[in-house]
Amino acid sequence: ENIYFDYSNAGIKKYEIQYLKEPTRKAHEVLHEKTGAGNDFLGWVDYPVTYDHKEFEKIKRVAQEIKKDSEVFIVIGIGGSYLGSRAAIEALTHSFYNLCSDGPQIYFAGNNISGTYLKHLMEVIEGKDISINVISKSGTTTEPAIAFRVFKSYMEEKYGKEKAKERIYATTDQEKGALKTLAEKEGYETFAIPDDVGGRFSIFTPVGLLPIAVAGLDIDKIMDGAKEAKELYMEEDLDKNLCYQYAAVRNILYRKGKIIEVLANYEPALHYIAEWWKQLYGESEGKDGKGIFPAAVDFSSDLHSMGQYLQDGRRDLFETVLNIDCSKLDMEIKEEAEDLDGLNYLTGKTMDFVNKKAFEGIRLAHIDGGVPNLIISIPKMDEYYFGQLIYFFQKACGISGYLLGVNPFDQPGVESYKKNMFALLGKPGYEGLRETLMKRI
Ligand code: PA5
Repeated sequence: ENIYFDYSNAGIKKYEIQYLKEPTRKAHEVLHEKTGAGNDFLGWVDYPVTYDHKEFEKIKRVAQEIKKDSEVFIVIGIGGSYLGSRAAIEALTHSFYNLCSDGPQIYFAGNNISGTYLKHLMEVIEGKDISINVISKSGTTTEPAIAFRVFKSYMEEKYGKEKAKERIYATTDQEKGALKTLAEKEGYETFAIPDDVGGRFSIFTPVGLLPIAVAGLDIDKIMDGAKEAKELYMEEDLDKNLCYQYAAVRNILYRKGKIIEVLANYEPALHYIAEWWKQLYGESEGKDGKGIFPAAVDFSSDLHSMGQYLQDGRRDLFETVLNIDCSKLDMEIKEEAEDLDGLNYLTGKTMDFVNKKAFEGIRLAHIDGGVPNLIISIPKMDEYYFGQLIYFFQKACGISGYLLGVNPFDQPGVESYKKNMFALLGKPGYEGLRETLMKRI
């Protein structure tokens, strides 16, 4: 059993798909022969096979050490340097992991610029043994750099400089960047991010795998799933490749004016997979004045907030449901002698049964309301299928970006805010821009 993709309710005609057969084959060729835009950043395509096995064993060893000597593990990173590991940890561990796991509590920092958040985090970790993984490919991103400066001095005060450095792990470029220089100077254990793997495609590298392993998850199985997906989605024929069908179908819908894709899930544990997916697609495709806007909803919660819009608002969106065939755990609804809440008609039914009926009912209602519906089903949410799913989305994103006619592997737009922020903060080298911006404020 593998991931299944169903677009039978997307309102797409057979010939619409057929028209995209050749462009998809071409996109496949360009991706695999590395002849397209962004071809410096295609290391992720073969990574599930070509990854550095020695480094992989080091991840497992270090994760064991961290688990042994830490009550708290802090992951400092932003964007592609944190969303992947967070997605895995939320999807695959206990819903209340930090409250009941044998392993270290895991907290994320450096993904915002909030002093309140950092102060609160420090209160929570007070008196506990801590290890830190600071992750930044460029090594110069402001948010994680500030958070790390704070935690570095916290650790040095708590443990002394020598002991602190034994508890700090840096994941960054193999040669350049401020974090690399700092890590070398301070003598931290480091993990390398391959040059040809961009942030949002880096979950299978130490960026994602070290925090995931510290959470007690089986990273071998994740890589097995990714490897299987790599094989499955090598097929260049659109009719036989579900991953490419997802890429093609979303492009067909986009061309028909469906410019928003809403990724819907029915399990709260999938929330951060959606956050990761939003980054992957938003940053890869939103450029040159083009791109589907990736949005996400958690059902059934968001039916009580966004349900009305989805059913009845502007018809420029389509819905992709991330469906888990078999839920991890389930619970039966019991009979009550007095049926005061009127729920006895559900006696003997399980929560998952009710959830699936909600899914079916919502799906039909949305289709009737003019929302094209796609389903990506995975047999169950475990490490193996998580690996498959991530690779499915990454490969579909590369193909989809090429079909859209953009470079899916750069993010020039992210730089604009950074330049303005640096100028306003008075960073050396930005004096001219500062002057121009100050006049506008
Ligand atoms: O996908 C990307 O490249 C970005 O989202 C980065 O992951 C993000 O900006 C963080 O960058 P860095 O790892 O260099 O700190």
